[in-house]
Amino acid sequence: MQDSQVSAAPAFTPLRLGPLTLRNRFIKAGANEGMTPHGLPTQALVRHHRNLAAGGVGMTTVAYAAVADDGLTFAHQISMRPEQVPHLRVLTDAVHREGAAACLQITHAGSFTTMRHGGSRASGSASSGINAFGMMHGVYFQRAMREADMARVAGQFAAAARLAREAGFDAVEIHMGHGYLLNQFLSPLSNRRRDAFGGSVENRTRFPAEVLRQVKDAVGDGLAVCCKLSVSDGVPGGNQPADSAVTARMLEAEGADLLTLSGGRNVESPWVLFGSPMPTAQMKAAAPTALARFGISMLERSTPRDLAFRELYFLEASRVVRQAVRMPLAYVGGVKSLDNVAQLMAEGFDCIALARALIHDPALVANWRSGAVRRSACDSCNGCVARIYDPAGVSCVHGPGNDPALTRLVALQ
Ligand SMILES: Cc1cc2nc3c(=O)[nH]c(=O)nc-3n(C[C@H](O)[C@H](O)[C@H](O)COP(=O)(O)O)c2cc1C
Repeated sequence: MQDSQVSAAPAFTPLRLGPLTLRNRFIKAGANEGMTPHGLPTQALVRHHRNLAAGGVGMTTVAYAAVADDGLTFAHQISMRPEQVPHLRVLTDAVHREGAAACLQITHAGSFTTMRHGGSRASGSASSGINAFGMMHGVYFQRAMREADMARVAGQFAAAARLAREAGFDAVEIHMGHGYLLNQFLSPLSNRRRDAFGGSVENRTRFPAEVLRQVKDAVGDGLAVCCKLSVSDGVPGGNQPADSAVTARMLEAEGADLLTLSGGRNVESPWVLFGSPMPTAQMKAAAPTALARFGISMLERSTPRDLAFRELYFLEASRVVRQAVRMPLAYVGGVKSLDNVAQLMAEGFDCIALARALIHDPALVANWRSGAVRRSACDSCNGCVARIYDPAGVSCVHGPGNDPALTRLVALQ
């Protein structure tokens, strides 16, 4: 057995997350599969997660389900409604048969939407103004949510978590990162409020913490309640790791069972999120409008020219959060090798979450365990990101792609 396999050994041991025990500490990070073309799971989605479970992960995350129709980012995304439950149950049963746990990432888009909900030209968000992303899709403005809006949305998160439990999920992950609604409150890049929900990081965390509280109250006995948090926005004027450490402490006090640490924002700093440039040529080819293509050209211009991919690119920022809390933390961002896993275990992270390396090889964990592979061959090209728009769904651009026949809905049992 190689040294790195020995020192990565703790990652192959079980982990307790509130009411849930994972068989090991590897989690498939939420990565929009693009496999719900009609807002319902397809056979491809079930196969994708069953393969990940069979390939050895402790838990796989389905991404992402909006908590309500007006929280959708994309038309081809799941919006949680009771009709979804039997379809999602097929998926969770398939994952459980392979011995893994299933987590559902639940989100609200806020201003990060491509849709004119109810025909409206404005979306809800932390603050009002021009909607820099939405305007490429006809949603020109955003309006500051009132307390009644926040109460409604917190209730929608709780209701979505209840439906996830009915559908057989073992965990939910509340998306508080990457520029979605709860992150629009957390980040000073989008929160310019002057009331109790803006200003200090404690105030900016107030609404996300309330959402967590309501989800915990709704399902905390039966489901692990996890949160995905951006440790750093990675651009001037955005959240820094020290801010995220404060937020993490508040979420710990509120009883979160796991924080998955990520970073970056979909609009202002996607290259921070991925640690490498976006596949702008493929994104332009998939863009629905000339304005959307213009937005992608702007992204090309703002991406640092000297950006070079670095394994474990969120390690320094994540360490700041690690030092601030005692609760379980999952590291995410550029995990490629067993040496990376060993290092993260030694540094006190409790789980390892991976997206691209598992899109490249869903059996990576089993291959690491057996010693067949020591390093992922994923080159972080981000070609898979543009494939969320592919009718067959996400796949590695270096592989054969998905079977287009599997875009059919699952057969209900
Ligand atoms: C194709 C693709 C889709 C993604 N979609 C989501 C998503 O829906 N929700 C989310 O929280 N993160 C999403 N991410 C980000 C990943 O969860 C993860 O934070 C990021 O890829 C860095 O991890 P990695 O280096 O292991 O890929 C996506 C990543 C990829 C590659």
